[in-house]
Amino acid sequence: MSKKSKKFDGDPNTTGHSWDGIEEFDNPMPRWWLWTFYLCIIWGIGYTIAYPAWPMINSATAGVLGWSTRANVAADIAAVDEANAPINAKLEAAELTAISGNTELNTYAASAGSAVFKTWCAQCHGSGAAGAKGYPNLLDDSWLWGGDIEAIHGTITHGIRNEESDDARYSEMPAFGRDELLEKDEIDQVVNFVMSLSGDPMDASKVDAGKVVFEDNCSSCHAEDGTGDQSQGAPNLADALWLYGGDYETISETVNNSRYGVMPAWNTRLTEAEIRAVSVYVHQLGGGQ
Ligand code: HEC
Ligand code: HEC
Repeated sequence: MSKKSKKFDGDPNTTGHSWDGIEEFDNPMPRWWLWTFYLCIIWGIGYTIAYPAWPMINSATAGVLGWSTRANVAADIAAVDEANAPINAKLEAAELTAISGNTELNTYAASAGSAVFKTWCAQCHGSGAAGAKGYPNLLDDSWLWGGDIEAIHGTITHGIRNEESDDARYSEMPAFGRDELLEKDEIDQVVNFVMSLSGDPMDASKVDAGKVVFEDNCSSCHAEDGTGDQSQGAPNLADALWLYGGDYETISETVNNSRYGVMPAWNTRLTEAEIRAVSVYVHQLGGGQ
């Protein structure tokens, strides 16, 4: 049974659709809504013409304004470089030893150096500079090649045992076992002697013989008392801080086959200002002399 609904005065026209006697008014969209909608479409088309938008096979349409995030970053970097140019020039001109006394240079170098370190050094020396096996801890005051600012700067500039720089730090511990420079029992004795230097538990009966082996074969680099020699990068063996490790196995491996720690030269990759900044940063980490 169908019942026609009553249309009151002022009601809009109906669309003619009717379901179970319920009819649909024909209400037009408000003007303001419609115009906003059209404007959005026009703005959208304009936007995709002006800016990079439509995906293509390898990239997207470039947009007539030529805007790009990469170009923006490059411009930002150029602006920062330009702003830092005067202070970088001052840093390069300063005496290395005078930097720490100049608050402006020192503050700048330490923070710029920290950024350089995180980018270029952390993968080997650790993000906190605490090092790892074979990669020296830069926080302590035990230095292989010297811990004053000039020594640190020299180490970083030319690197260690690399092929890139003729001025790289260089020395080579002989492979006493592999090259048959010492007998097996002499190596056993000298390893026990080395362990006694830092008070590690060892076989005390071998220490006296080991001391003789050490004096004959090792003291030219590590010094008679085992405290090392920074002019040859020979570590202090008496301070219980180890580059490779202080247990019997590891020391034995070092003496048998030696090690050959390599660090790249940085003057081929970084500017002098960056090298100075990271030198100041490392010098201030705690062990600087
Ligand atoms: C590829 C690994 C590697 C990277 C990267 C590296 N180093 Fe080294 N670094 C080493 C090794 C290995 C040694 C120790 C070599 C040796 O046995 O004498 C060393 C030694 C040093 C020393 C000497 C420590 C001492 O006790 O005398 C300093 C200072 C140093 N690195 C600073 C840096 C800085 C700063 C950077 C970043 C610009 C850096 N290193 C990046 C591997 C690396
Ligand atoms: C020509 C110099 C030289 C001589 C001789 C030498 N060493 Fe070394 N030694 C080094 C250098 C340099 C290192 C640093 C390791 C590297 O090559 O990266 C080193 C490292 C070591 C280490 C590792 C220390 C650590 O912190 O892990 C031990 C242990 C050691 N030497 C013991 C000896 C003993 C024992 C002898 C004698 C049998 C000896 N060395 C003779 C130069 C020398």
